[in-house]
Amino acid sequence: MYAIGSKKNLLNNEHSNGYYETVKDLLENDLVQKMKEFTQHGNTSTFQHCINVSYYNYKLCRLFRLDARAGARAGLLHDFFLYDWHTHTRETGDHFHGMTHPKAALRNACEHFTLTDKEKDIILKHMFPLTITPPSYKETVVIVLVDKYCGLIETAAHIFSKITGRYRQSEISTRQ
Ligand SMILES: [Fe+2]
Ligand SMILES: [Fe+2]
Repeated sequence: MYAIGSKKNLLNNEHSNGYYETVKDLLENDLVQKMKEFTQHGNTSTFQHCINVSYYNYKLCRLFRLDARAGARAGLLHDFFLYDWHTHTRETGDHFHGMTHPKAALRNACEHFTLTDKEKDIILKHMFPLTITPPSYKETVVIVLVDKYCGLIETAAHIFSKITGRYRQSEISTRQ
């Protein structure tokens, strides 16, 4: 298990600087695993996106001597809304997934895990400034930036793979 742009095996506790132990119980949960069934950005599943955000939250929080445990755990649950947002509007009439999903993720997370106030804040306000209430903790500011950065990289990686895929195809057809 790897985060985008990283060669560290996250299932190896030593390689990941303790990351695995910090989120192990969450990773073993069936509903957290279920996030693999939903697409987030391009080719990236919601599970992989949450791993990306969780791991880079962990790294940045450690770097700035913040609460890396809260950053990692809330990062893994920040998009724990458990539906395909591409079909969500059609199925429910909810046109504001961007604003409503942090509440859905927090509701699910509280139902299945015990969260600290800081972890709740990280999940609930990760879409700031789209959701108007500003972060109450520095760790929430970290996820606001990391989530957007990961979303951008995931989308760019998808576009790049499409372009290179097309390029390879045209290369093949030219040779034929
Ligand atoms: Fe989100
Ligand atoms: Fe996200």
